[in-house]
Amino acid sequence: MIATISNTKKNRLPEILEHASGDKRFKILEAHMKKHQFKHDALIEVLHKAQELFGYLEDDLLLFVAYKLKLPPSRVYGVATFYHFFTLKPQGAHTCVVCMGTACYVKGADKVLAAIEQAAKIKAGGTTPDNQLSLMTARCIGACGIAPAVVYDGTVTPRQTPELAVQHVKGWIDHGN
Ligand code: FES
Repeated sequence: MIATISNTKKNRLPEILEHASGDKRFKILEAHMKKHQFKHDALIEVLHKAQELFGYLEDDLLLFVAYKLKLPPSRVYGVATFYHFFTLKPQGAHTCVVCMGTACYVKGADKVLAAIEQAAKIKAGGTTPDNQLSLMTARCIGACGIAPAVVYDGTVTPRQTPELAVQHVKGWIDHGN
């Protein structure tokens, strides 16, 4: 099955680009594309980098990549859905991405992740049975100066401790867990 991105989402490009301008992860991704001279055949490599930075590939990210590489969104979406090593946006109503890159790891990201896993009773990569929270990890989200960083519903949040992280996701996991 070849999935396509709806026109409604395509029309969101200006909004996505504006959001991207304030998110360092998009800048890092763009620099990576530039390194590959925005070549079409770097698509898989670029998607790998995007997943490393964001933890998963959501529609906005795929549209951003398509726009920058001047590829049809359907092609980018097709590649992202074809290969098993790519994870599309998880099904949880809320997402929590714990950065496990070196800078975050040495500042205790593993403990932050373990605390969320324990509180939500799921492992990284999983979603709570009520589909309220999906927990993911990423490799360096480009915020090493504020390590350990966690991204809650797309918002990069600095200097997380296990307590702060559990506090943050508490409202999402209190039901049925
Ligand atoms: S290692 Fe976590 S932001 Fe760089």
